[in-house]
Amino acid sequence: MKNSVTGNTQHLVILTGAGVSAESGIATFRDALTGLWENYDAETLASEFGFRADPALVWGWYEWRRNRVLRAQPNPAHYAISQLEKKLPKLTLITQNVDDLHERAGSLKVSHLHGSLNKPRCLTCDESYAFPDEVLPNATSDRESRIDPPRCDLCDGLIRPGVVWFGEQLPANAWKSAEDACRDCDLMLVIGTSGVVRPVADLPYLADKKGASLVQINPIISGLNGVANFNLAGKAGEVLPELYAAAFPNT
Ligand code: APR
Repeated sequence: MKNSVTGNTQHLVILTGAGVSAESGIATFRDALTGLWENYDAETLASEFGFRADPALVWGWYEWRRNRVLRAQPNPAHYAISQLEKKLPKLTLITQNVDDLHERAGSLKVSHLHGSLNKPRCLTCDESYAFPDEVLPNATSDRESRIDPPRCDLCDGLIRPGVVWFGEQLPANAWKSAEDACRDCDLMLVIGTSGVVRPVADLPYLADKKGASLVQINPIISGLNGVANFNLAGKAGEVLPELYAAAFPNT
C-alpha cells in the first residue's frame, strides 16, 4: 500500500461511507451501537413516501442529523484524505456521506453520490432552499423531535432534505464521473462502508476489473472484503494518518 501510494499511483479513488465520520461523533447507519436506523425503519425516514406521510418526523430527523454535523469536527481521517489530494497527481473523492466534513477538512473536490444535508430543495418545484444561520434548538435535543419543514418561497411547496432517498436515482453526472474514475484508477481506497447499498457498492468491482489495487479500511468485515486486495482492520482516524505518514514520512 505504502509503495503504491508513493510509487507510481497516477489516479487514486477514495470511496467513503459513514465510518469515516464515526470518529467525529456522527452515527453510522448500521452499526449496532450507533445505528441511525435503530428504532426506525429506513423506509420511514429516508424515502419520499415516508416524508409525504409525515413531513415533520422526517424533516425533524434530518435537522437533528444536520445539527449534529454542525457541532462536529472533521477527524484525522478527513484531514489525511485532504492531504493526499495535495500529494498525488490525481485523486477522486467519492462519498456516500451527506455531511460536509470532507469539505471542512480541506478536500476541494467531493462527489456526494447520496446528496447533502446542506442542499435542501422544494419537493414540488425543485427550487433550492437556503437554511437560516441559526441552529434550530429543538433539533439538537434528540432525533424524535418533530419539526415542520419550511415552505418554498416560489410555490409554497414543502422543502425536503437534499439527500438521495431509497428508491431515488443518484445524481446522474456524479454517478457517471464515479464510474469513469473507478475504471481509470490504479489504486482505490474504500473507507468506512458496509458495502451493502447499491449501486455505490458496485464501484469497487469496476476498479478491480480494471486491475486497480483495492485497499479497505474498516474495523470489521464488510460486504467488500472479498474484492479488496488488502483489508486493514482498524479505525479510519487511526489507520489513515499512519498510512499517510508511512507514504510521505517527511511531511
Ligand atoms: N473507521 C472505519 N470504518 C468504520 C468506523 C471507523 N471508525 N466505524 C464504523 N465503521 C464502519 C462499520 O464497520 C461499517 O462497515 O463503517 C461502516 C458503516 O456502514 P453503514 O452504517 O452501512 O454506512 P454506509 O456504508 O455509509 O451506508 C451506505 O446506506 O443507508 C444508506 O444512504 C445511506 O449512504 C448510506 C448508505
